[in-house]
Amino acid sequence: MSAVTILENGDIIALEHSRGVLRFHAMWLRDNAWDETTRATSNGQRLIALRDIPGDTRVSAAELSNAHTLRLTFEPEGKTIDFDTDWLLAHAYDRSDARVKGWVADTTELWDSGLRNHVPVADMTALQQDEATLRTWLGDIARLGFGKLVGGPIHDGALFDVVDLFGYVRETNYGRKFEVRTEVNPTNLAFTGLGLQAHTDNPYRDPVPTVQVLYCLESSAAGGENMVVDGFRAAHRLREENQRYFDLLSTYCARFDYAGEAGVRLRSRRPMIELSPDGELIGIRFNNRSMAAAVDVPFEDMKDWYAAYRRLGEIIDDTDMEVTFRLEPGEAFIVDNTRVLHARKAYSGTGTRWLQGCYADMDGLNSRLSALEAQHAAQGASAR
Ligand code: FE2
Repeated sequence: MSAVTILENGDIIALEHSRGVLRFHAMWLRDNAWDETTRATSNGQRLIALRDIPGDTRVSAAELSNAHTLRLTFEPEGKTIDFDTDWLLAHAYDRSDARVKGWVADTTELWDSGLRNHVPVADMTALQQDEATLRTWLGDIARLGFGKLVGGPIHDGALFDVVDLFGYVRETNYGRKFEVRTEVNPTNLAFTGLGLQAHTDNPYRDPVPTVQVLYCLESSAAGGENMVVDGFRAAHRLREENQRYFDLLSTYCARFDYAGEAGVRLRSRRPMIELSPDGELIGIRFNNRSMAAAVDVPFEDMKDWYAAYRRLGEIIDDTDMEVTFRLEPGEAFIVDNTRVLHARKAYSGTGTRWLQGCYADMDGLNSRLSALEAQHAAQGASAR
């Protein structure tokens, strides 16, 4: 940081640094002050509301008091506050790069079948005992939306140990956990475990459960492999192929419903490809079994909307997109259910397959990951 300039009568300041000039508004700076009358020193929460800051706030004096401190005086409060310039650089918003619809965070890594040789896997005991292993594994799940676990215990409810690593079970009408149990009987095709198209779970909920854990307890049947597909990669592929298809599926809402048991009627109205208001790709809902009649697509666009839906399904079904693996007893996988689709291949032969599943949420996982990373950074800093 080499220089600071006051612009527009103190409405704006400009910081010059090695990457160029970054502008900040006086109001933004004042609201983001970290002095002890603005923020509680104990928990960092803001002590004042915007109404406590004068609407005509401006900067009357600005100086770089050292390499890492910007000292600003705000009027009409007559208040002088120090800002950490590293914090300002990390939170700068003065950029001109236009974001295209469907953008994803820099920390998100899209993948296809090429991930099969690099699936993030960790051992249960190591995850429970070693924070570095847990931090790496959770980081992989946050980045890729998917991870595998091996070496877990084999008993009813063992999947809760997985959730305990990062968060809390999301209980639903299916209970705290649900059974995925198939007896394969080749004499009766009705009992054959049919394959399922890749899907996200429970799109009829709003909000959807954002994490699913599937844990294997028995696996003596041939087949029944699990498969995952990166829904964000599929959405990007659709956009690369046909922008209009992407726009149709991200603009118009689909409807999903579930009324499979007495006393339950779940319904949602969301697009298959969900974008935030500023275009970030934030969710995929794809589940043929619970799609309801689409009534929010204009008549003129319905034909193309169906063509787009079909094409997205073809991309999801493309083997170039899938990572397939087999879960053995004591093994589990975890998916970000807002992003990664999962499927089960058909069973064959004889034997049984018993999995248990449960839901949890990405906010808990991201929180645990951030806390571990902050702790690791602090340890690194104290060791230097
Ligand atoms: Fe599922």
